[in-house]
Formats: sequence, C-alpha cells, structure tokens
Amino acid sequence: MLDTSDEWITTRTGMKERHVATADEPTSEIALAAARRAIASAGIEPKDLDCIIVATVTPDYLFPATACIVGSKLGIPGVPAFDMEIACSGFIYGLTVASSMVRTGVFKRILLIGAEELSRIINYEDRSTAVLFGDGAGAVVLEASATDSFLAAELGADGTDPKNLYVEVGGTATPAITAEDIATRRNKVVMNGREVFRFAVTKMIEATDVALDKAGITRKDVTWLIPHQANRRIIDAAAKHLAMPSDRVIVNIDRYGNTSSASIPMALSETVEAGKLKDGDVVVFVGFGGGLSWGAVAWRWNGDVKPSRNGKADS
Ligand code: ACO
Repeated sequence: MLDTSDEWITTRTGMKERHVATADEPTSEIALAAARRAIASAGIEPKDLDCIIVATVTPDYLFPATACIVGSKLGIPGVPAFDMEIACSGFIYGLTVASSMVRTGVFKRILLIGAEELSRIINYEDRSTAVLFGDGAGAVVLEASATDSFLAAELGADGTDPKNLYVEVGGTATPAITAEDIATRRNKVVMNGREVFRFAVTKMIEATDVALDKAGITRKDVTWLIPHQANRRIIDAAAKHLAMPSDRVIVNIDRYGNTSSASIPMALSETVEAGKLKDGDVVVFVGFGGGLSWGAVAWRWNGDVKPSRNGKADS
C-alpha cells in the first residue's frame, strides 16, 4: 500500500502489529466487548452501574454519544452516559472526572471505557500516519474503596494550533465534506509528527512530576509507569528522563500500535492479567494527544480488585 518498510516502522515507532475492526463493528461494539470483560472482572452486573463514560475521538455518530449506545447494548438504558473527546488524553481525563464523581458521591460505580477505531479516520496513503494508528478498546469499573486510590492528577490543554494533529473537515468550522475533500483526504487525520514528538516527551515528564508532587510522593515511589502507547521512542525518552527502569514501564505498542484513548486501559488490563500489580503499588498513568492535550494521574493500586471470572481482563 505504501512506500515504507517493516524496518522503518519498527525502528522509528516500536510497532509490529495493529488491529482493524470489521466494517460491521462500530466503536460502540468494541467498547461493549471491553465493557463486558471489565464488568465480569469486577464481579458485578451491568445493572449495578450508575454511569457510563466513553473516551473516544471516533464515535459511532457525531451525536448521540457512543456511551448512550453502549448503555443500551448493555441492557441498561436510562443509566447516565456521556463521551469525552480529548484524543489520546481521553482515558487520563476520564479517570480524573470519574474518580472525582465517585469520591464526591455523585455516582457509586462508573464504567469508564477508552475505545477507538482510528482506522476509520486514517489516510492510508499518508505513510507518516498510516503506519501508526490502530483500533482497540479497554475498560475499567471504578467504585469507592476504604483507602483512596486516586492520589492526584495533572491535566493540561493548549488549542493554540489545533492543526498539529487534527481532522480538518466534518466539524462546524468546515461542515460540508465535498467530493474534493474526500479525494484529497481532508476528512482524515493530519499530523505534524516532529512537533508532536517534541511536545509529547516534554509534557509526559512535566505532568508526571507535577502529579507526583501534588500527591506528596517522589519518582522513587512509583512502582509502574503506564504511558499512552504512541511511539516506543517517546516512551523510552520520557522514562529515561524520569529515571524509571524499563522493567517498571508498561509497553505493548508492538502488538497494538497507537489506539489513542484505548491504549492506557488496554495496557492496564494486560498488566493486571500478568499479575504484576500488587496491593499498594503506585501507578502513574500518563498521556498526551490532540488538543494538544496532556495529563498524568498518580494512583495507588487497591488490592481489593477481584480476579477476573474468565481469568483474562481485570478492572
Ligand atoms: N516509512 C518510511 N519513511 C517514512 C515513513 C514511513 N512510514 N514516515 C515518514 N517517513 C520518512 C519521512 O518522509 C522523512 O523523510 P525525509 O527525511 O526524506 O523527509 C523521514 O522518514 C523522517 O521523517 P520524520 O518525521 O523526521 O521521522 P521521525 O523519526 O520523526 O518519526 C513519527 C516520525 C514516527 C511520526 C514521529 O515523529 C512520531 O512518533 N511523532 C509523534 C506522533 C504521535 O505521538 N502521535 C500521536 C499523538 S496521540 C493522538 O492524539 C492521536
């Protein structure tokens, strides 16, 4: 399809595989699959949920929110549901919002999903983006616990130059998508890769340090760094500056590519499945993306989390 090579992709990004949803699987379908596994892992039923949040930039429709559709597919219409659209920072923002609502008693139990079908908005003639992005979904169930898991968050956004990473047409700035737009792929993702790379490394380090500072802990207290999986070199550079040993940094980019807001919950799920997370571990989730936007959440892992019923994903 493209003038590229496995060698270029592997050395510049660390990616080996990406996944693409089938034509009859909109984002709500893969979100639903992740939701069902998280609900089973939590040992609850869908009816026990008070709220559903889907972080996505690739919703089924411009509106209604994909979360509403997931709620109905889960058999719980009526449960409040909304989407968060802040690109690859979606799960970090979602975790902050959902945790805040649980901690203040607004909701008891929230299903938070990161789900993306980036394959639908990628220009497969642009080698600088086509090789990077894949489809995926991950989910967690959040509920109150005796000890607080949420330690602190540091979030940021700067929309001064949205064109660094955006889809030009289809929104209210340029609503009508013409035949020419489609021919020239103006309805697909455009990215200034070098600019995003520089920004990503800087913000991952800054956001992590500020979140730790707010939590009153230091880099040495961090057991696991679970970063957004955008580029292996970005992760390695940030981890090096943060003095995080590589065996404490979760990386699965080789098997999924960049799945935007799904990448952190997918990496978390695999970390739990592998039995790596222990009661009391400090986890830092850190991400960045379109906006431009960024954020980090410092989290204390709660050992009350139940093992999965099917022995696979956990929440
Ligand atoms: N295959 C072969 N060559 C390629 C490819 C490819 N797939 N893509 C680009 N090249 C070429 C370029 O054309 C360029 O050639 P030139 O020097 O002749 O002009 C050369 O490779 C180097 O290009 P760079 O852009 O400098 O390559 P770089 O090492 O920066 O890697 C990459 C590019 C992987 C995109 C990197 O910049 C990156 O990861 N940026 C961050 C992207 C990112 O994280 N995006 C996600 C944000 S999250 C969200 O919200 C969606």
